[in-house]
Amino acid sequence: MDTADVTPLDPRSTAAASPRALIVDDDPGFLMGLAELVRREGFTVTSAGSLKQARQAIAASAPDILLVDLHLPDGSGLDLLAGFEPTTAPEVVLITGDASVETAVDALRQGAIDYLTKPVDFARIKMALANVTRTLAMKGEIGALRSELRKLGRFGPLIGTSPPMQAVYDLIGRVARTEASVLIAGETGTGKDVVALTIHSLSRRSKEAFLPVNCGAISANLIESELFGHERGSFTGADRLHKGYFERAHRGTLFLDEITEMPLELQVRLLRVLETSTLTRVGGSELIKTDVRVLAATSLRVEEAVATRKLREDLFYRLNVFPIALPPLRERGGDVELLAEQCLSELNAATGTAKHFTRACLERLRRHGWPGNVRELKNVIQRAFILADEDVGVDSLPLGVTESVPAASVVMQVGTPIAEMERRLILATVDQCEGDKKRAADVLKISLKTLYNRLNEYKPG
Ligand SMILES: Nc1ncnc2c1ncn2[C@@H]1O[C@H](COP(=O)(O)OP(=O)(O)OP(=O)(O)O)[C@@H](O)[C@H]1O
Ligand SMILES: [Mg+2]
Repeated sequence: MDTADVTPLDPRSTAAASPRALIVDDDPGFLMGLAELVRREGFTVTSAGSLKQARQAIAASAPDILLVDLHLPDGSGLDLLAGFEPTTAPEVVLITGDASVETAVDALRQGAIDYLTKPVDFARIKMALANVTRTLAMKGEIGALRSELRKLGRFGPLIGTSPPMQAVYDLIGRVARTEASVLIAGETGTGKDVVALTIHSLSRRSKEAFLPVNCGAISANLIESELFGHERGSFTGADRLHKGYFERAHRGTLFLDEITEMPLELQVRLLRVLETSTLTRVGGSELIKTDVRVLAATSLRVEEAVATRKLREDLFYRLNVFPIALPPLRERGGDVELLAEQCLSELNAATGTAKHFTRACLERLRRHGWPGNVRELKNVIQRAFILADEDVGVDSLPLGVTESVPAASVVMQVGTPIAEMERRLILATVDQCEGDKKRAADVLKISLKTLYNRLNEYKPG
């Protein structure tokens, strides 16, 4: 078989600059109908009836978007997703006859930007097509952010070059363009809000609304009508129709923060809305179509939240298409210093000063456990900035920096040398005692002199 097997459906539409679509489906009737629609949206359309033909067409015409049926005579449409270079890969929209969650999840994980079920919703196809050009621009933008990371140590608003953060940027870059739900997990202050906003701003929905909703801040009896809206007269006090967050986020992104605070029975409703893309307002019966991408966040450990029934397993599965686990600051190594320096230089710029950290101060910042993560670091530096003159030294750090180390446990791996264990234990204890050496020595049951000797040994340089 040669490329002649690949039929351009309409030779008139091969205008030079129009974006190219390839439709892969073995049902000729469906293919014709879809091709017509795609062509009307200004695309040059090529079609293929099998994986084999599709591969030839891809090689011949480098399409910008693929609309692929899942079940093809010679294999699964998903197979086409493998083997593309990330930078040159076309956008893939998967079309399936059976809308199982597993297939959808699989498709999105492998890089499809969307999946549609037959019979296809023309409005959604149109949206996917309209967004291809914007998506192409996004690819450029993500590429630019990657090189910014190499040069400046930041990915958009996110600062840090530590390996666990680089893994996070990679995930953001991959998931942003897709329609996949994302569950962002991380301790308080690790940057979940920033990550959600970054995903939105790199997505095809970036020009539309980004609506954050803190599920923990709305009372349990209001959250249903806040999310889904209510009809006039649906309950006492509902004196007019109210559109919920879902309707207001139409075409945009809804950020459900502290998702585990949502009552379980509402989690069921949320799941149904996500699966069907429709909702009914409280007290209403009209089915309203929704087009909302959901990002969710939790500061609990996700598996624990499921085990303790704070998060329904089925909702977890639906949201967790793309989990992003934000590392705590204490696991980001030198990022502490980068963040601290960045924060200080912003303060300097804002006030026309040129303050800088002493080495001891940076060392101290790096050693702290940061239970409040980046937020705590920023607060500490703002405070130190105000207190300090030229040098921002250890004496401008609040005692609280050491106070909040959680019941000071020191985790050590088997294989850690005794001397290193001793060093970490001593430093953690001094931190825990807010720098009070006498108290630390008491806790450690060593003499004050021994403590001073050890601390001297540990001094850098
Ligand atoms: N990697 C980062 N680079 C720069 N600033 C960051 C980074 N991560 C977090 N921040 C900043 O730290 C502060 C806290 O971040 P954010 O509100 O996103 O945390 P969070 O995980 O949502 O916390 P919470 O669980 O309390 O809601 C914000 O001021 C944010 O801008
Ligand atoms: Mg937050």
